Parts: sequence; structure tokens; C-alpha cells
Amino acid sequence: MYDVYEIRKDFPVLEKIIYLDSGATTQTPKPAVLAMNDFFYNYAANYGRGAHQLSIQATNAFEDAREIIADFLNAPPEKMIMTKNTTDSINIVANGFDFQEGDEIITTVVEHHSNFVPWLRQKEKGVQVKVADIDVEGFVNPDQIDEMITDKTKMIAIGHISNVFGSIQNIEKIIQIARKNNIPILIDGAQSAGHMALDLKALDCDYFAAAGHKGLLGPQGTGILYIKNPETIQPTVLGGGTTSDADACSYALKSSPECFEAGTPNLPGVIGLGAAVEYLQKIGVEAVEAHDNHLARETAKRLKEINSTHGNNNTNNRNTDDNRITVYGPDNRAGLVSFNIEGLTPHTVAMRLDKYNICVRSGYHCAIPGQKALGIDGSVRASFGLYNTEEEVDTFINAVSEIADSVQR
Ligand SMILES: Cc1ncc(COP(=O)(O)O)c(C=O)c1O
Repeated sequence: MYDVYEIRKDFPVLEKIIYLDSGATTQTPKPAVLAMNDFFYNYAANYGRGAHQLSIQATNAFEDAREIIADFLNAPPEKMIMTKNTTDSINIVANGFDFQEGDEIITTVVEHHSNFVPWLRQKEKGVQVKVADIDVEGFVNPDQIDEMITDKTKMIAIGHISNVFGSIQNIEKIIQIARKNNIPILIDGAQSAGHMALDLKALDCDYFAAAGHKGLLGPQGTGILYIKNPETIQPTVLGGGTTSDADACSYALKSSPECFEAGTPNLPGVIGLGAAVEYLQKIGVEAVEAHDNHLARETAKRLKEINSTHGNNNTNNRNTDDNRITVYGPDNRAGLVSFNIEGLTPHTVAMRLDKYNICVRSGYHCAIPGQKALGIDGSVRASFGLYNTEEEVDTFINAVSEIADSVQR
């Protein structure tokens, strides 16, 4: 296990704030910020566009970063595309796949809108979208996905970890089902990349989309997309960088990854992301996973205990009328906890917590269908990162307890 107090020195903002919103965006460590500074101060130039030394240095740094990221996830660098964010990555697949009228896509009700709306949009082409359910803890049943498959199914798209419930889906089993039926499968790894050890070769999915700015600790404006067979996706944005030859009436595209990276890429961002992933590798992603999960599970347990200290021993995970605090999601959750305080809207709770210098997310977390499915009208979410501490959990629990106490019953 690493020394959390030592690594906090690399995140100066944490001296003044308790940051429990890493599920939205993590803080970026100093070495990654310095790598971006170095780019701006010493070799800011365009990618692959020039024979001059700065352009060569910038191109090499970008490609080195790609290799670090690909290596971290055990994927070949030419299949690791640098994107803007998870949403961009999923749209590249949804809009570049050759869907035909009558085809079927299977997704689930617990998805973030980024892994939902791009598939719904395919209905405009006459594609049918089938949506699998979740149980009360936010789990998808792989057998239901199996039963939904027909000979028209052309894609399965599922999130690895729910950003609302923290449920870790059995994607290994769902990928096996996809393989058995010869159906391409996309994994939305926005909440898993950098929060757990991942081996894309072993996982054997067709597409893996994730953010650079979440668990991978990189800056905003960075995302990744792994495509196992790049020829299955037609690039949807073309221009400089994608084209190997052109004349007055035709053009030829480069191979992956360049054909998917039109225009000037986010050089400083990707270079920063490469440095951030190196930083994460040194700490060890398994240790980070254990740390985040422990803090989230401890927090969920203690939030439920606030109810029992008020004379109520109901600690199940479901909405009940007599629970002052309702916690959603399973006990074996990943590093986040969603909850509500009876009598207060999620935004009110978040604003009150802000007065304690605690940053949390509130609302629907861009995942309305899953919350509607369980009758939840938004929630407060505390999400953890490698830099959070047990003391921060204590402060958070005390603050929530005080806020809950302030509600007239
Ligand atoms: C599960 C999930 N998918 C997709 C996204 C969208 O990620 P991005 O902001 O990188 O596009 C998020 C963001 O919170 C998420 O949690």
C-alpha cells in the first residue's frame, strides 16, 4: 500500500478542499502538470506536420504517451486512439459502425447518457435498441443479455462500473456471451480505467472507451478508444492527419490510429496523460483500487449507521420511508457512494456540503434512465480517488450527520 499523505503533496488543491468528485474528474498530479508545462515552454509545435526539430520532438512525445497508455492497458498502440473524452470515443464507434435498418443494439438502463444516447440515435437508421434492466443494486444480469440476443443483434454496449450505483458489472461473462454469439461488444470503462487493473487483450472486448481525465489522472480534454479491429469502424471526421493521398476527386485514408485522429490533436493533454499514467503505474493500480473501494465501502456503511444512531436499524439498500439517509448500490461497490437525505434535494445537500469545503456531485449524474428505473429522483454522490483519506471520510460523515439532523421531521 502506498503512503497517501506522501502522494497528496502532488495535488496541492487538496490542502484547501475535500475533493469527493473523482468520478466526474480526478485531480492531476504535479508530474503530469509539469510535463504539460514542459511542452508549452520548450517544444510546443504541431504533430507530424513538420520536419523541424520542435515538431519532431512534439510528435515523439505524443507517440511515447500513446505507448505508455496502450502498455498500461495491454493493447497495441496502433489500436489505441486518442480522443476528447469517453463520450467522443463511444460516438466514434456508434456513428462509424455500419448499422443497417432492422439491426439490433443491446444496451442497459443503467448506462451513462454517453453510452445510451449515441445508440438511441441509431434508431434514425431503423435500428432497434433493446435495453436490459438492472436489479435494486444496479446490477445487470448477463443471462438477460443472452436472452435478448437474436440473429439481428449487431452490438452490445455496456458500462463496466455504474457511475450512480458503483455496481461492477460482470463484463467478463457478458463479453463471453458476445464472443459465443459473434457479436461486437463495447465496454464503457469511464469509471473503471485507472480504478482497477485492466488487461484489454485478456478482456477481449471489441471496443473499450474511457476518459483520460478520470481514473487515469490526466487532464480534461483527453479520452481513449481501443478498437480491436480498426477496419470495423469508418472514421466519421476527416481532414488533416487522416489522409495519406488525395487528388481533385478522391482521397485515401491512413491506417489506425491516424485515420481516427483528424486535425491537430490535444498534444499537451495527451503528453500530460502519458505522464499521469506513468505516475499511476508507479503507485500501482491494484493498490489504488483497494484504497478507493475501501473508502467507498466504509463511507456507505457509516452513512447507513447514521440512521441507526437515530434509532432506526434499517440498513438495507432500498428506498424506505423511515430511513433518514438512503444509500444506493451494493455493499461490494467500486469507489463511489450515492445517497439521499430525506427532506432535502440532492443539490441542497451538495451546497450545504460545499460550506464544509467538501465537493460532491449531485443530480442525475447524466444517467437518468437507471435512476428512473429504481424510482430515484437524483442523488448525492461521493466518489473517491487515490488521494482521499480516512480523516476526510470522518469529516464527510460528520457533515452529512449534521445536515441530516438539521432537517425538521
Ligand atoms: C460511466 C460513464 N460513462 C461515460 C461518461 C462520460 O465521460 P466523459 O466526460 O469522459 O465523456 C461518464 C462520466 O462521468 C461515466 O461515468
